[in-house]
This record gives sequence, C-alpha cells and structure tokens, in this order.
Amino acid sequence: MQNKTSTAISLRILFCKRSMEQENQRIKTKRIVIIKKNLAKKVIKKMHKNVIYPKVKFQDVLSAFWRGARPQRLRLFFLLTSIILANITIILIPILYKHFFDVIVAGGDRIIIARNLLTIIINVAVLNGIFWILYRIASFSNNIYQPIAMANLKQQSYDYLMEHSYYFFAGNFIGSLVQKVNRFARSFERISDNLTWNLLPLLVKIVSIFIVILFINKLIALVFLIWIIIFLSFNIIFSKWKLKYDVMAASMDSEATGYLADTITNQNTISLFSGLFYEKEGYKNITNKQAKTIRFTWNLEAAVEGGQAFLGFAIQFILFFIAIRYWGQGLITVGVFFLIEIYLITIIDQLWGFTRLVRDFYQNYADAKEMVEIMLLSHEIKDAPLAKELLVSKGEIIFENLSFSFNKTRKILENINLIIRPGEKVALVGPSGAGKTTLVRLLLRLYSLESGKILIDGQDISKVTQHSLRKNISIVPQDTILFHRTISENIEYGKLGAGIKEIKKSAELSHSDEFIKSLPDGFQTYVGERGIKLSGGERQRVAIARAILKNAPILILDEATSSLDSHSEMLIQDALNTLMMNRTTIVIAHRLSTIQKMDRIIVIDQGKIIEEGSHNDLLNKSDSLYRKLWTLQAGGFLASDEEEIKINENESVIKENNDDEEKEEVKFINF
Ligand SMILES: Nc1ncnc2c1ncn2[C@@H]1O[C@H](COP(=O)(O)OP(=O)(O)OP(=O)(O)O)[C@@H](O)[C@H]1O
Ligand SMILES: [Mg+2]
Repeated sequence: MQNKTSTAISLRILFCKRSMEQENQRIKTKRIVIIKKNLAKKVIKKMHKNVIYPKVKFQDVLSAFWRGARPQRLRLFFLLTSIILANITIILIPILYKHFFDVIVAGGDRIIIARNLLTIIINVAVLNGIFWILYRIASFSNNIYQPIAMANLKQQSYDYLMEHSYYFFAGNFIGSLVQKVNRFARSFERISDNLTWNLLPLLVKIVSIFIVILFINKLIALVFLIWIIIFLSFNIIFSKWKLKYDVMAASMDSEATGYLADTITNQNTISLFSGLFYEKEGYKNITNKQAKTIRFTWNLEAAVEGGQAFLGFAIQFILFFIAIRYWGQGLITVGVFFLIEIYLITIIDQLWGFTRLVRDFYQNYADAKEMVEIMLLSHEIKDAPLAKELLVSKGEIIFENLSFSFNKTRKILENINLIIRPGEKVALVGPSGAGKTTLVRLLLRLYSLESGKILIDGQDISKVTQHSLRKNISIVPQDTILFHRTISENIEYGKLGAGIKEIKKSAELSHSDEFIKSLPDGFQTYVGERGIKLSGGERQRVAIARAILKNAPILILDEATSSLDSHSEMLIQDALNTLMMNRTTIVIAHRLSTIQKMDRIIVIDQGKIIEEGSHNDLLNKSDSLYRKLWTLQAGGFLASDEEEIKINENESVIKENNDDEEKEEVKFINF
C-alpha cells in the first residue's frame, strides 16, 4: 500500500511540476509582466534575508509555550488528570456490555438474568456519570487555563518583539509580524487542544484497550498492538515527509500577507504611479503559487485517507477472523465479539483524524516556530549589564572615531570625529544619502556601532540605559508617523501623563492649534493610520509639539520644517528658537537658508565630515561643497565662472541682510 501511495505521490509531483512548467510557459509570453513579477519576488526575498534568524528546535517551541502555560500549571494538571480518568472510564463501559451479552447468552432464570442485567446497566450509568463529571472538570479547567496562557503568550511575544531594533523592523514586513504574533497564541491553542482532546485520549484508549484485550486473549491483543503501530508509523512517516510542503504553504501564507500589507499601505503610491496592474499581477502570482501548494498537500491527504480506510477494513477482518476461531474452540465468549467491535469503532474513530492531527501539529508548530525564531533572535541593542542612567548636566556630545555600515559592501559613516559643545547649535548638511539621519540615529542608539564611540557628558551611550538616553533627547524625525489615536494622545507621547493644559500649550507653540481648531473634534480628532488624515506639514507640527512637550536637554531636528510652507516655517521658528535655548541642538536641513545662524555647520558627504565652520567661513572657502550647494540653492547656477560672480553677489546680499538683522535684536535663529 505504501508503495502504491508513494507511486501516486510521485505521479502527482510529476503532474504538479508539469502543470507548473506549462503555467510558466504561458506566463513567459507576457514578458513585461513576468519581469515585474520577478522584481516583486526579489524584493520579498531580500526583505526576508535582511534578518538572519537562529535555528529553532522542537524544545525551543515547547519551552516558549511552557512559559505561557506555567502560571496555569495547576489547572493544566486538573485538565490532564480528568481527561486520563475520563478515557479510562469510557473504556471500562464496553466491558460491562460484554458482560451484559454474556449473561443473556448464558441463559437461565429470566428473573435472575434481568436482575443481573439491571445491576450491569446501573453500573454503566454510574460510569457514564463519572465520565460526565470528569469531562466537565476538564472542560472548565481548559476554559480557564487556555485563555490565560494565550494572553501570556501574546504578551510575551509582543514584549520581546517590541524590543527589537529599528533595523529589525526596517527589514521585516509589518503585516507578517502582526500575523506571527497572532498565530503564535493561536498555534498554542490548537496544539494544546489537539493534545488534550485528541492525542491524550487516543493514547489512554490504546493503552487501556490493549490491557483489557490482553486479559481476554493474548494473540488478539498482540495483533491489535501491531496494527496500531503500523497505522501510527504510516501516518507519522507520511506527515513528516509532507512537512516541507506544509512549511512551504505556511511561508507562502506569510508572504501573501506581507505583500498584502505592503501594497495596502502603499495604495496611494500604487494609484499615483499606475501600478495597479503590476501589483494585481504580483499578488496573483503569490496566491496562485499558494493555491498550487495547497492543492498538492490536499491531494496527498486524500491519498493517505485511502490508506487509512484500507488499514481499518483489514484490522476488522483479521480480528474477527481470529476471534471466530477462538470462539469455535470455546476460548472466548460472544460478548468478546461485541467488545472487539466497540473497541475497533472507538479506536478507528479516534485514529481517523490522526493524520489531520499530525498535520495540524506540524502546521501549528511551523507557525509557532516563526514567532519563536523572533523570540530567540537576541535583541541587537541591549542595555549593558549594570547599565547606569544617563545624567545630562551640560549636554556635550562627542563622536569618536565612529564608523558604521548596514552591510559589508558599503560604509555609511567613516571615521567621524566630532565634538559638540554644551549648548552648541550644530547643523548637519550634505547631499541626500550622505548619512546625516544615520548619524543621529546612532546617537539615539537605534543601531549598534561598528567601531568608535559616542559620549554624552563623558558617558558612553552604549553603557547607559536606552531608556535614559532617549529620555534626554527630543527628536523631530524626518518622517513623522503618528499613532491612529487622537491628536491630543499623539502630542502627549512626548511626555506620557502630561495634562491637557501642557498639551495645548505645546500645540500653541508649534502652531498646531491653528489647524487643530478647525478639525471637527479638535484635539480629540483621530489622525488615521500613520497620521494619514493630516497633511505632511500638520504631522510635522504635531511632531514639533511633541518635542516641545518632551523638553529634553538635547534636541535633534531632522528636516523638522521641510514640509512647511515658508510662512508656517517662520511662525514655528520662534517656538523652536525658544526650544533650542540652553540646549545642545543638532539640526539637519537641506534648505541652507534655514541654518545660516547655527553656531557651526558640519558638511557630510559619503559618510565623511568634509567641511566645518560657520556659514560665512564655509562660503569663503572657494572650493567648498557648502559653497556649491549654497550657490545652487541661491541662484540655480552650476559651478562655473559665472558662479563666482553669483556667489559674490549672494555674499553681499547675505552680508547686507546680516547687518540689518544685527542692528535689530535677533529674535530668532533661522534653521
Ligand atoms: N535600514 C537600512 N538598511 C540599509 N541601508 C540603509 C538603511 N537606512 C538607510 N540606509 C542607507 O544609508 C545611507 C544614509 O542614509 P541616511 O538616511 O543617513 O541619509 P541622509 O543623509 O539622512 O539622507 P537624506 O538627506 O535624504 O535624508 C543611504 O544611502 C541609505 O540608503
Ligand atoms: Mg535623512
């Protein structure tokens, strides 16, 4: 039978391969589409390769589950004990019925027989009663233990996941991560259900039935045992072989969800770039692949069901064949036929779902494994043992021989040496992709350094707690993403627990109150997922309000006003100047006119500091990159002879402006 099954399976693989080839052939004709499809596939593969997960063993998954279930171990004990006792009880009942038929067949005085039969069925009723009570205990224990264990597991996986690094989240599909957290608790539920309500009863029944039959006839018991071993081995070997296809189906499911989440998030970009056809094809490619794998695995299951049915018929025939011979020799009673039949029906019924049980087990195991992988992956950024709280007294920042790269091929930052004095206002400028944002992310310890160190007031940031480090730095990030919560809650994130007065004050200072007032629910307006219902400038103002509320001694503004119109920018500068007072500040800006008044300007290009000085110092250097950038922004000229003239003109304009401003009392610093 196994040979036949494997031949059928090989045929199906061949068929599946052939139909896949035909499908590929058909698709090849649509050249443009397939190129795009491959691109989509590559993107997904790359995303997965970004993070290298540790190998997860079976005991890792078990111990992860156990961590969730352990607090409920007493209830688990009640559950398992009552299941074991209930299943022993259920195996005892057919013995009474065997007796019942033997009493009838034996014949004699009907009144005595009837009395005996009555005693038997009263005993049956008592056993049924015990069974009923035991199952109720099991069911209520399960109802308490399982939801709590699942909540523990969700919490544990969430807690661990959220402490992963910025780099980890950048390299994973958010949709897949959400799915993994949910699937983890669900896989525990299913595995636990299967173990409690299927596998444990099956084992108890097999052992009990074997013992009962052993007392009746050793050969029948032996045949029964051999059959059980064949049946289970057949299922386990097959299911194990099939595991790779189940894992493939599970990972395709993750892939499909990831694609879905990514494209739904980017729906706007898709329609703006007319990418709908491309994305539809990309999704179709994934779901088709998924469907093929599912069909293949289902076909395998259908084949195994055929094998199971055959084994079921065979055992019935063999056992009755042996029983008839023994009955003929007067070695067993009629009741034994009844007993064998009932036991066979019970055990085949229980075994029938065994493949599904094994499949479910592996499938859920694969699901759980995906989350356990994340839970075993050590956090990239961890607090050092005995890490101290960062104490910021002056706000001096030192970058010492700092180098960093995301992968070995390209250095993002190279040998950065920079001292930012307490209270100094420093601007970082340079071409896009130069490494400016990466530098401030390193200051926030969102990535771990490759070499060198960063000191704040003499304290190495890798030796202080991440919490204290980030508590002392306010940042207005380059891309503001908001929670799908109210505006008030979003601002409050700068200082959790802040009162509404403080929130309103910072909204006022950041000029957010102007647009907030016009919203139907004011501060209680929900901003949509990632803050989508607000404009870029509005989101940026909320981020500024948050930074104002946080009021930390170090301030980072990464293109903080880039999405604002010049008028709004002017208005906000006032608030930002107040915010920058007596604070060490790092400002990143492309619009150079906004950073002229900073104490120092650092020019970064291709991960290196190439120039530094004040605005005027840098402009006076004839070959400086800053001068070139300034020229381009001020006049739109490229480096040429004409440029010199233009620069000189600009310089005089700037000087004039500066003189004017100096005459007036400087009210705010531009950046
Ligand atoms: N998570 C990441 N994985 C790999 N490379 C990254 C990652 N984040 C950024 N980079 C790369 O690092 C380089 C520096 O990025 P960074 O964001 O620091 O530039 P930037 O100077 O702030 O540019 P911009 O002015 O456009 O904001 C870029 O080339 C970018 O592609
Ligand atoms: Mg940047």
